Amino acid sequence: MNQQRQKPHYSMCRGFRIPMGFPVTCFESGLSYNAQPEDNFIVTYPKCGTTWVQHIVWMLHHDGEPLPVGKDINLEVPHLEEVGADFVAAMASPRFIKTHLPYSFTPYCADAKYIYIARNPFDCVVSFYYHTKGFVKHYNFAEGTFNDFFECFIEGEVDWGDYFEHLLSWYDHRQDDNVLFITYEAMKADTSNYIREIANFLGSSYLDKLNNAEIFNSILKHTSFTSMSQDQSRWSSQRPKEMTPFIRKGEIGDWKNHFSEDKIARLSDKFRNKTAGTDIAMLWADLIPN
Ligand code: A3P
Repeated sequence: MNQQRQKPHYSMCRGFRIPMGFPVTCFESGLSYNAQPEDNFIVTYPKCGTTWVQHIVWMLHHDGEPLPVGKDINLEVPHLEEVGADFVAAMASPRFIKTHLPYSFTPYCADAKYIYIARNPFDCVVSFYYHTKGFVKHYNFAEGTFNDFFECFIEGEVDWGDYFEHLLSWYDHRQDDNVLFITYEAMKADTSNYIREIANFLGSSYLDKLNNAEIFNSILKHTSFTSMSQDQSRWSSQRPKEMTPFIRKGEIGDWKNHFSEDKIARLSDKFRNKTAGTDIAMLWADLIPN
């Protein structure tokens, strides 16, 4: 039996690992996109709830209309580093833009808005493992185990870099006027409230729409896990049938099904060391080991 550790394969650009097949030129140009005052960025480390919030903002912008089947959320709310600056610049304003960049690399405009969604690292690494294993063409990691991926994650040797560096870079700006810092777990616990928070942050015209119960209920319904997991056509063609679906479980605490005692200790140590001197542990006080 081959015991050798498997590693996902990546392309490299500007020191970042990126999925194979992402045009490096687009990644490069995405970094130099000239952010505009009416731009709204959805910012995450991978697997922290990006797609969920992409759908929420899209529906808010479209008065509660659900994303039609066959429309690609990643073209409607495009991923800056995947499509590049020209694509985004050509969109009508106000733009809704997805990015996985850490703060210092994210195109900045004082009047643009940035919604950052954080997720606890224990569930993030599990979700990221299934993501990486399933997108075979992007990572060539179909045979990789959770043990293999955990080692890469804890070393920060995955796409978009180190989880903690990313989180810290945005956490430092959580109180900036143009940043809304929220967690995946809080959104799950009280989705209605966070849909309102997001609308309020985007502006009064968005919040006003939620006074219409039909709009509000439509957003709540169509962005639920159950609803979103029913249309995975955008991803299913890229993921072999035997792999987990992209919208996978949407749970808090699935990490308990994957972590050994040793892994719990190692990620907890890294968490403690990296976040020392901050209140980040309070974000997930009852959810993860301390
Ligand atoms: P799991 O793999 O733990 O299920 P991203 O969009 O940043 O890639 O994040 C993907 C994660 O968000 C996946 O987590 C996915 O199932 C979860 N997710 C997607 N839509 C969701 C929703 N409507 N509600 C809750 N979780 C959702």
